[in-house]
Amino acid sequence: MKSFSIIVEKKINKFNKSIFVPGDKSISIRYFFLASQAYGLSRAKGILEESGDILSSIKALTKLGVRIVKKKKTWFVWGMGLSSLKTRNNLSIDCGNSGTLSRFLLSILSTYAHRIRIYGDHTLNKRPMDRIMNPLEKIGAFFQTKKKVNRTLPCYITGSEMPIKIDHEEKIGSGQIKGGLILASLGCPGISTIKEFKNKQSRNHTEKMLKFARPGIIKVKKFKNYNLISIKGQKDFKAFNLNVGGDFSSASFFILLTLLSKNSRLKIKSVNLNPTRLGALKILKKMGGKITLQNIKFQCGERIGDITVKSSNLKSINCPASIVPLAIDEMPLIFLAASFANGISSFRACGELEKKESPRLSLMNKMLNQIGIRTKLIDRDSIKIYGNPNLNLNNRTYRIQTAYDHRLSMVGIILGLTFPGGKIIVEDCNSIATSFPNFLNLVKQLGAKYEIKK
Ligand code: S3P
Repeated sequence: MKSFSIIVEKKINKFNKSIFVPGDKSISIRYFFLASQAYGLSRAKGILEESGDILSSIKALTKLGVRIVKKKKTWFVWGMGLSSLKTRNNLSIDCGNSGTLSRFLLSILSTYAHRIRIYGDHTLNKRPMDRIMNPLEKIGAFFQTKKKVNRTLPCYITGSEMPIKIDHEEKIGSGQIKGGLILASLGCPGISTIKEFKNKQSRNHTEKMLKFARPGIIKVKKFKNYNLISIKGQKDFKAFNLNVGGDFSSASFFILLTLLSKNSRLKIKSVNLNPTRLGALKILKKMGGKITLQNIKFQCGERIGDITVKSSNLKSINCPASIVPLAIDEMPLIFLAASFANGISSFRACGELEKKESPRLSLMNKMLNQIGIRTKLIDRDSIKIYGNPNLNLNNRTYRIQTAYDHRLSMVGIILGLTFPGGKIIVEDCNSIATSFPNFLNLVKQLGAKYEIKK
């Protein structure tokens, strides 16, 4: 897709609306992976569509012999069971922009003995892969990378036909590593374990979906300081039917837009409300955000419900470090909220943000400084934000660089629609399509005005 910028000059007027956000990206990717490992025909509704990351996932699995078809609104996957992927030497698979896809693919291929090349786009090729390669090496997989630092893509993986079970302590707090290792465990003999520390807990969609597909394969035992996840390997499971709720990460842009707008109210319907995804909700509520949850129900092992948000005056926060992994994709938005809040906010243990699609902590720091918000960035890990609810961008024009990062583009647009005065030009907004293709349409639906510049 060709690059385009979004120009926002007019602030959004008050609104009172109800919207749906598209299906959860993490769950959608996990569905294609787990359904490909099941026996029989799985069906899913509510899958995130037209997203670059999802298209890359479907393409990658199709290249490995998995049949995936969409009819009306249902996504069918013909699973052939564990070890059924069609691999061969010198197969080359493109993961596009998706970190989740790349780490899951490396994991699942770690029990196949062919030599396969995995690569991504220019941003994915900069992201660390040692975090998944190191534990996978312990089960017998072999990786070749040109770059020694962080062992970035492109890489060649040669899996093991005789893998050894996994015993991993997850110290980063990454849902991608945990999810990848659960997928790899399915192909390993015996019972694999993953120890997840309470202060590094991450999204648990893989655990929930596997338990929903076939109870008994995965168990999560809760101890005082950690969860112990055990997975019975080489156990077949049958196809399953899934309904996917809306993506909380996508909803969070609209939560913030409403909080920061005057006299507005928004209902976001049928959103996935898994507690391991709701760190940002906790933070924003602590900051004084008027956010309530209604109609909560359980659907296919996941918690779903509606979110109602009202305009609020936000106050600063001293954010506990243990919430950060539960709000990892929403932290750029939280930093914007802190800029609007009364008082000085501080955030620790944010180093993982530097390893996302772009160095998000540094770039958010730059974005906030650019518009006149004072910050103190320490060791690319912590940030203090001196909130200024009275800041006016006056008549100046600000050009926001997003380094082709979808979440930074959307944050830039929310900034432009809410901070009074000024003209905001957000560059490279084509990246938004990787995770939230109808973001701009929904913004428009709430009455926002913007200009597209190609
Ligand atoms: C994801 C986990 C998170 C998140 C990413 C999706 C997942 O990454 O940032 O957008 O689906 O498991 P990390 O696990 O690397 O923190």
